[in-house]
Amino acid sequence: MDHFVSPSLLAADFGNLEKDIRMVNKSQADWLHLDIMDGVFVPNISFGFPVLESVRLLSEKPLDVHLMIIDPDRYLTRFRDAGASVLTVQYEACTHLQRTVTEIKELGMKAGVALNPHTPVSLLKNILRYIDLVLIMTVNPGFGGQKFIMESYSKIEEIREMIDSGGYEILIQVDGGIDTTNAPKLIKTGVNVLVAGKSVFSSSDPANTIQRLKTLT
Ligand code: DX5
Ligand code: ZN
Repeated sequence: MDHFVSPSLLAADFGNLEKDIRMVNKSQADWLHLDIMDGVFVPNISFGFPVLESVRLLSEKPLDVHLMIIDPDRYLTRFRDAGASVLTVQYEACTHLQRTVTEIKELGMKAGVALNPHTPVSLLKNILRYIDLVLIMTVNPGFGGQKFIMESYSKIEEIREMIDSGGYEILIQVDGGIDTTNAPKLIKTGVNVLVAGKSVFSSSDPANTIQRLKTLT
């Protein structure tokens, strides 16, 4: 399959989100990535439901919502109602992950599981049959603009092998420090969805950067 590009709104201009969302609408982006941080699971707070609901009214792209919050089960229905198409929870934040991802799917969303850089992909073995997406965090979550962690490549190789050998239909997403220089190798390693914040929104022509991320092979 062709890979997807999901620009991360965290790096957009919060004083004028409408302008950046309209840029994404017109671009070749496939999804719009939204980072929800609670100041507990990660040492940062981003935005919540009121912002998400406003984004939903403007965005023509499916909302790819990445929860960096503890106990996400409390809010799954509200994220669905706020417009999430893909809902990704952090492995480290879920005590009863199978129940959480099953509920996400029952609510009609794609279910994703994100792994922090130190969390081995082998821990996903018994959950693969229940999920639609694995998010390999390529930085420690919490902030945009961080440096890509090189050890991520071997994790991607390993999860690609687990998915293919098991015959699962699961997308591999990467998030953190992704740009046009490391994206080609990530795609070759088996990634299906590129999240990019700073490299898109800090570039002189964000729509063109999205196009470059989308068309590289
Ligand atoms: C980090 C977030 C990312 C972030 C990526 O915790 O999950 O989605 O926005 O930003 P860049 O692409 O700037 O590293
Ligand atoms: Zn993210």
